[in-house]
Amino acid sequence: MCGIIGYIGKQKAAPILIEGLKRLEYRGYDSAGLALSEPSGLFVCKKTGRVEKLAQSMMGRSSGSTRGISHTRWATHGGVSDENAHPHLSSDGTFALTHNGVIENFGSIKKFLLSKGYTFQSQTDSEVLVNLIAYHYAKEPKDGDHNPFLEAVRRALFHVEGTYGIAVMCRDFPDQLVGARKGSPLILGVGKEEFLLASDVAALITHTQNVVYLKDNEIVSITPDSFHIANGTRENVSPIIDHIDWKIEDSEMGSYAHFMEKEIFEQPAALENSMRGRFSDDNSTANFGGLNLSAQELRQVDRILFCGCGTAWHACLIAEYLIERYARIPVEVEYASEFRYRNAPLDKNTLVFVISQSGETIDTLAALREAKRKGYRTMAIVNTVGSTIARESDGGIYQHIGPEIGVASTKAFTSQLLVSAMIALYLGRLRDMSFTDGRDFTEALKSLPELVSKTLELAPKIKKIASEYKDHADFLFLGRQSLFPIALEGALKLKEISYIHAEGYPAAEMKHGPIALISEDCPSVFLAPQDDMFHKVLGNMQEVKARGGKIIAIGSEEAEFPEDLPDHLLRIPECHPAVLPILATIPLQLLSYYIALEKGCDVDKPRNLAKSVTVE
Ligand code: F6R
Repeated sequence: MCGIIGYIGKQKAAPILIEGLKRLEYRGYDSAGLALSEPSGLFVCKKTGRVEKLAQSMMGRSSGSTRGISHTRWATHGGVSDENAHPHLSSDGTFALTHNGVIENFGSIKKFLLSKGYTFQSQTDSEVLVNLIAYHYAKEPKDGDHNPFLEAVRRALFHVEGTYGIAVMCRDFPDQLVGARKGSPLILGVGKEEFLLASDVAALITHTQNVVYLKDNEIVSITPDSFHIANGTRENVSPIIDHIDWKIEDSEMGSYAHFMEKEIFEQPAALENSMRGRFSDDNSTANFGGLNLSAQELRQVDRILFCGCGTAWHACLIAEYLIERYARIPVEVEYASEFRYRNAPLDKNTLVFVISQSGETIDTLAALREAKRKGYRTMAIVNTVGSTIARESDGGIYQHIGPEIGVASTKAFTSQLLVSAMIALYLGRLRDMSFTDGRDFTEALKSLPELVSKTLELAPKIKKIASEYKDHADFLFLGRQSLFPIALEGALKLKEISYIHAEGYPAAEMKHGPIALISEDCPSVFLAPQDDMFHKVLGNMQEVKARGGKIIAIGSEEAEFPEDLPDHLLRIPECHPAVLPILATIPLQLLSYYIALEKGCDVDKPRNLAKSVTVE
């Protein structure tokens, strides 16, 4: 949600910033802008719309500047306009700033600054912050050893309530960038004779794989030769330089038309990576290096709470189903945004798990912090290495699927389901699950890449169905037991990328209200593999058919359907119940992708959305 990239080094900054913004565009695409340090002062160019528009505006302008900051915006305060785009200049032209996050007390600060003669061009909270920095700078002594630029940023941030990840430039200090974070991610890229600041690893990867993840309240000052990090109380911080093992190709589309398509089709490999090295065949169980809890401690856990948002919340629902079924531990699931403000009574033997692809979702992070504050052990299932949630949880499991760039989550979801299944296996084997049941479970998980590849072969058939159904305005997605959350996920995918209204329900619940929607115009997608619920689901399908509703059924190879019951039948491979939710997800991802394509929607950048929601 909003992307920042800053550069200081020996190369021309503008092309580096624009390339970085293109890689960050999935974080927000309302507007884009950059500021360069030039001999005449700070040059700013910003445009509503996509980064490409900014790139075109910069085309005729050759700037030799080797320092700059830039931003791609997802609007919070203030509408989508050139004025509200970042970077913002202070009204005296001394500072340029890019900001992610929300300054909650911006109203009172703005009032104060207006009384001091500062003026504002935009409606944003960020412009208030850059002027507050200018205000403190004007008061700083300009002689002696201390750095008035850095000091002004520090003093301004002291008065700020809310969240920020910022990159700042000062006209009077052309050889310096300052960055700081609280609640919004900021990463320092340490290159050869160059440094970068970014909100996301994806923006840095073509320049360096060496990064420092800044912590909350840290402030970094960068020159072309060195950097220095201090914490909120001015103490020096010894930087830990981490190495990112993503490859450049991981963040590129290759031969695919969209990141979403690439990420759907790379699921066999992604799942392979999520499970690599994590099985113990001798014990028929899973292994996790990062849980930081002994087997004895895990046996004492008598309740687990899962929290997440959106698609990750759907993964939590599947985790509930799997852990209760295979490990017999009671599980509850909360929306992270609700849990953080609820004073839910938890027992001391409760373990709290959060699930987050980005590791930066603010509500999930807040839920994690709330659970920690109350003394619970916290675990995270996270994809982004070094992210705030990964660092702040007591232990956890990385998904290892490389960057997910399509705004609609696909490979991250199926990997979260896989990791949840592995946790169920691990906890089950510490309790009642037999060696042979553990072995069957393990074998089922290991076969997933192959089964997913086979399921992906349905793509051409699904494409045809998509062209037939693209003009429908409403859809129902129906499933039972572990496939109910998959119905929710199928509905969410369709809504978010094709703007078609869709709802997910437990199939039997349909009779209690949603059945009123059934007509020729509202098709139902039924999850109906050959499992314990199959005959019940057939009954629910008959109820739809009797009312003239069209049916797209996701069945399994052996499922026998009465003739003409489903209008379209997509068969997934027969499989172990623990992996069924993963296989059942694939056709729904493809259906939403192809319908969105048919409708001409911008699949990777759906309207109003952004990846990684770092505001409340
Ligand atoms: C939907 C989607 C979102 C995210 C949600 C949580 O396709 O991607 O619903 O799942 O914003 O994001 P993370 O997992 O990064 O915490």
